[in-house]
Amino acid sequence: MLKHLLYLKDLEKEMICDLLELAEYFLSKKNNASSSEQILQGVDLANIFFEPSTRTRSSFQIAATKLGSNVLNIDEEHSSRTKGETIIDTIKTLEAMGVSYFVIRHKKKGFLETLKNNIGENSHLINAGESSISHPTQGLLDLLTIQRHTDNFKKIKVAIVGDIKHSRVARSLVEGLSIMNTGQITLIAPDQFRPNMKHYLGVDYTNNLSIGLHKADAVIALRVQKERIKETNVDIESEDYFKAYGLTNEKIAKCNKNVIVMHPGPMNRGVEIANEVADGPHSVINEQVTNGIAMRMALLSLMQNRHSSK
Ligand code: CP
Repeated sequence: MLKHLLYLKDLEKEMICDLLELAEYFLSKKNNASSSEQILQGVDLANIFFEPSTRTRSSFQIAATKLGSNVLNIDEEHSSRTKGETIIDTIKTLEAMGVSYFVIRHKKKGFLETLKNNIGENSHLINAGESSISHPTQGLLDLLTIQRHTDNFKKIKVAIVGDIKHSRVARSLVEGLSIMNTGQITLIAPDQFRPNMKHYLGVDYTNNLSIGLHKADAVIALRVQKERIKETNVDIESEDYFKAYGLTNEKIAKCNKNVIVMHPGPMNRGVEIANEVADGPHSVINEQVTNGIAMRMALLSLMQNRHSSK
């Protein structure tokens, strides 16, 4: 039974495999749930985002609605938070209205753990992005996307390129890839964006894009997280950054011929990825978004623990 989802590293491999299998099932049904699978009928879910989002918030809204849930979108600037209410009081207020699923994005590290210790015993908490440390549902949908295009995690090389230091997507994806015993994981970034490698045990790092991309089966381009960068020598607007780390057709030619190119979005075209790659034959970026609905349907179904096909 999965009650909360805060970090992918907390999940057993078997649970990740169950989520991948269930997400595949929903994809086979074009992300539709039959009436008997609408297991969130009568259940209220609140999306509470303290940082901007297009994909994650919409995806949870669509996934939960397809499963029969009523979804509330709480926007900080239009909520009573502006009058000084604490987030915990906001959650207790929503719990008193009957809301039992809380999908939360927040910029403060460790905040989700505090919330978990303060919410009601019948409530479920889902991390929709925490600071630069965690984005577990993005990690899960990325695993699903990689699995659909490759034979076996154990035999593949995954390369992650860009601002790794500030990326919650990289952290969660690597947690998931490690649990799935992925053959090789390589981080590629300029030295200024090299992360603390204690969070990436068993993972390679290089600042050389050509070396890092060599024979990769999946490449994930990451956005430069301008909003999280306080001091850096990297001029992200410069042609130099794009020249050294931007994905172009010429650069991805170093990868295996069937390489898939991914990006969690939002993309900064011309900074970390060229149009020819973002819109090219190797790109599965839009597929990632569709897979995100299936994976969030799978997650909510498993949390509710009443999926009819299992
Ligand atoms: N990938 C992702 O988290 O996108 P959003 O910020 O649009 O939710």
